[in-house]
Amino acid sequence: MKTKRNILFILLACIICSCGTQLYFPRSADTKKQEQLLAGRKLYTSYCSSCHNLHLPGQFTAGQWKMKVDAMQPRAKITDEQKQLILQYLISEP
Ligand code: HEC
Repeated sequence: MKTKRNILFILLACIICSCGTQLYFPRSADTKKQEQLLAGRKLYTSYCSSCHNLHLPGQFTAGQWKMKVDAMQPRAKITDEQKQLILQYLISEP
């Protein structure tokens, strides 16, 4: 009985971990850019996940993302600067 519960726990942990790694982690040699991308990722996960699941950066082209983030700005109540950081993160996936 106990082993069963442990296996379930491990499975659950795996599922949770694999969900988290779907959003790419930015790595840029340029420190300033790296900071901006990290900030964008953080803003994206905190402001854009309250109403729906996060869409993956690769799901849309840069042009499509610009329109969609513009459309979501009033919903997420973010400033132009925050929007810019989120957009930069979304379209910078290597
Ligand atoms: C207040 C709720 C809310 C917040 C916050 C929000 N969204 Fe949305 N989002 C929606 C709703 C509702 C839809 C579906 C209807 C639509 O497309 O207008 C949607 C749809 C989308 C879609 C799919 C559109 C398509 O054409 O397939 C994308 C991409 C998206 N949101 C991105 C974002 C991003 C990026 C942010 C953060 C800046 C964000 N959302 C924050 C409510 C929200």
